[in-house]
Amino acid sequence: MTSGKNGRTDQTNPGRVAFLDGRGELPMLKVSTAWSTAEIYLQGAHVTHFGKKNEPPLLFLSQCSRFADGQPIRGGIPVIFPWFGAREGLGQHGFARVKAWELKEFAPAPDGSVSVRFRLPDCPEASAFSPFSVDYIVTVSDSLNLELLVTNKSETDEFVFENCLHTYFEVSSINGISISGLKGVTYLDKVVNFAQKTENDNAIRISSEVDRIYLNTPGTVEIVDSGLKRRIRVEKQASLSTVVWNPWVAKAQQMPDFGNEEYERMVCVESGNVGSNQIRLPPGESSRLMVKLSSEPL
Ligand code: BG6
Repeated sequence: MTSGKNGRTDQTNPGRVAFLDGRGELPMLKVSTAWSTAEIYLQGAHVTHFGKKNEPPLLFLSQCSRFADGQPIRGGIPVIFPWFGAREGLGQHGFARVKAWELKEFAPAPDGSVSVRFRLPDCPEASAFSPFSVDYIVTVSDSLNLELLVTNKSETDEFVFENCLHTYFEVSSINGISISGLKGVTYLDKVVNFAQKTENDNAIRISSEVDRIYLNTPGTVEIVDSGLKRRIRVEKQASLSTVVWNPWVAKAQQMPDFGNEEYERMVCVESGNVGSNQIRLPPGESSRLMVKLSSEPL
């Protein structure tokens, strides 16, 4: 899933990585390849930007996002781990998204792509779980390839967790898109107190708040954007859940780090394993969530 454009090599134009002070003076990596650019903050190992040359950015980033130590970034790809959603007495969506991850290595490859590997550092919150390690490998080429590798370090106990790559996509207008690949799938409708429903639509359109956890759905999801004349493809491995979220008007107004009108230009299509799809990892074993994000003209 990590090859360069059409599998061709591009030794004349190797990928590059620059280290910068990002917004809020948080450390950030800027990756450039022959086909694309990406920006990744160490805080949360958070990809805040991916865009192909001569194409609008693939990822949405809120103009109102905080960029501060220990605060989640609004937009891009928050890494949600080890739990999704609310947990009693604990923060929403786990702690991985607000920790400063370690940069382990980066490698411009002969095919012109660049891979960057991060590791979640030890932290007090992790001690509530059996011992684990988490690596996150981001590969930038003509597509964006993400791998979240979780290893259970215990010799005796299962490690039970949820994970999710909470991807915010930039769209021309929420009225001008449809989402396909989920027809017939059972979902929990969080807007209606987690009511269980079945998706009837081939092409899902959004015209009010949407917050849905689609379960047992390993397949590819596509966003067709008639305004940008672009098809976004979300391909995944070892992910059984897809979450679709748009806060719409009232919720947008309640979020301090999100503009009142920004719901018009974004949609989240998130890939992971949440709720009844949570992962039960036997001692010593690893799970590798892989997501490939790509786009093509309509
Ligand atoms: C989605 C959830 O994944 O994330 C929503 O399904 C939630 O319920 C949204 O509102 C944003 O969460 P947060 O914590 O980043 O505001």
